[in-house]
Amino acid sequence: MMSQPRIAVLLSRVRVEEKLLLQSFEAKGIEVDVLDVRGINLSLHEPDEWQQYDVVVDRCVSQSQALAVLQVLNDWGIQTVNTAAVVQTCGDKLATSSALVREGVATPRVKIALTPESALEAIEAFGYPAILKPATGSWGRLLSKVNDREAAETILEHKQVLGSYQHHIFYIQEYIEKPERDIRAFVVGGETIGAIYRHSEHWITNTARGGQASNCPVTPEIDSLSLAAAQAVGGGVVAVDLLEAPGGQLLVNEVNHTMEFRNSIDTTGVDIPGRVVDYVMRVAQGG
Ligand SMILES: Nc1ncnc2c1ncn2[C@@H]1O[C@H](COP(=O)(O)OP(=O)(O)O)[C@@H](O)[C@H]1O
Ligand SMILES: [Mg+2]
Repeated sequence: MMSQPRIAVLLSRVRVEEKLLLQSFEAKGIEVDVLDVRGINLSLHEPDEWQQYDVVVDRCVSQSQALAVLQVLNDWGIQTVNTAAVVQTCGDKLATSSALVREGVATPRVKIALTPESALEAIEAFGYPAILKPATGSWGRLLSKVNDREAAETILEHKQVLGSYQHHIFYIQEYIEKPERDIRAFVVGGETIGAIYRHSEHWITNTARGGQASNCPVTPEIDSLSLAAAQAVGGGVVAVDLLEAPGGQLLVNEVNHTMEFRNSIDTTGVDIPGRVVDYVMRVAQGG
């Protein structure tokens, strides 16, 4: 008989998603070690106590904390869901966009600029409105829809003067005139397990900002684009944000690596935590 794989879940604050995942492990009779990232230290020359794990599941709120630990674990040869590489790419919108373009995945046009002056030029070349985003960020925070030149000048000046150095890399994206919604598709281990629409009258449709979730049937186009996006960033468990351009073409806006799914289980009818646990077990058992 095969022995039970050893699984650890790395977390800090236990949110609804972490509770659901832990419940799902328990319901399937799988024992896991829960490790609070705030209490651990790693000795780079002493991997032994970690080598017992077949897979470590990252559910840290803090991306920088997760990345620090995942990098060491992966260098020790310990499998993680997700990998450090995925977290690094998804945690950075520029890295994500660049990976999507590299792999030929349809995505809105993006420019980067390093000074307010060159950023203004890039914005003017797109025309208005244009979107400015911090390269690292989530929940729709600090996104700007820039409607005219005066607003552009003001926002760029504010970023330059008041922002930390991360805000001095200007990530500029074309605005996609989408219907009052976007699409979020859940990809787990190379399978699009479900998707939701996020409706909002606001151009920012994140559920954290009041967007309303409803089920979105996974069409062959949503499926193939989401899989391609997930693969471009390195696979694993990710949520892919899609925008519907005028005319209906789908574009990948971003890919999220420690996905939230509490509003999507009843909405889609898919046991998302259960599917994640099944995938983790497949990884633990060597694919
Ligand atoms: N280029 C864009 N055109 C139209 N809407 C956008 C664009 N970029 C972002 N949005 C809207 O803003 C939301 C949040 O943007 P996103 O890039 O996903 O940032 P975050 O990481 O904060 O979720 C998207 O879900 C979408 O509704
Ligand atoms: Mg998003």
